[in-house]
Amino acid sequence: MARKKIIAGNWKMNMTPSEAVELINTLKPLVATEKADVVFCVPAIDIIPAMEAAKGSNIQIGAENMYFEEKGAYTGEISPAMLTDVGVKYVIIGHSERREYFAETDETVNKKVLKAFEHGITPIVCCGETLTQREQGVTIDFIRQQIKIAFLNVTADQAKTAVIAYEPIWAIGTGKTATSDQAQEVCSAIRACIGEIYDEATAEAIRIQYGGSVNASTAAELFAKPDIDGGLVGGAALKPDFGKIVNY
Ligand code: 13P
Repeated sequence: MARKKIIAGNWKMNMTPSEAVELINTLKPLVATEKADVVFCVPAIDIIPAMEAAKGSNIQIGAENMYFEEKGAYTGEISPAMLTDVGVKYVIIGHSERREYFAETDETVNKKVLKAFEHGITPIVCCGETLTQREQGVTIDFIRQQIKIAFLNVTADQAKTAVIAYEPIWAIGTGKTATSDQAQEVCSAIRACIGEIYDEATAEAIRIQYGGSVNASTAAELFAKPDIDGGLVGGAALKPDFGKIVNY
């Protein structure tokens, strides 16, 4: 069965609640399609107004992060039940910015992935190498390590529904998109790695996105690659351009 594309926006720390409502109203008609899943991952405080604004459209609202404990003394964190209570179905886990600025590790990523599945939330599991790692030729080894740890104790049935976002760190917010061949090479290696951990059917089912300076002019070529099932879009997701990316 062909995999349905999934185009997700990662708003990062942008958009106040009122700006969020305005942006969704602008984008709603531009991203209307049944051909791909369209997800806006927004700051926690924007989730409820974004849900309201997106009602009746094909836009699904996701979160940018989540904690791996159920509840308790974790000041400032958002629990999985808080997300499911308002209908969130997707959560970005382990974005490179969270790893770099908020000390997330492969191990905490794994805990969050397991917790998301436990609550029926689909994790968008991020991986990606630095420029130094690419230049030293260790990209594939590094990504395989990230994936193997992120998916520890995740069942095949869960993994089949997961989304992986391959985001080379050197391509994020730099305007320097990976070439479609570079992106395809790593996405295909990720699929092979999932095949090794689980089986062929799981590898075929899991959806793998590319992220890193995706824009209206690079989306079509990237998403045409056999192992690239859509994109995780930062800067361009905050503009009408996102409509062009969705309708690549
Ligand atoms: P940009 O599209 O702004 O490069 O960001 C990519 C990203 O980090 C999405 O998660």
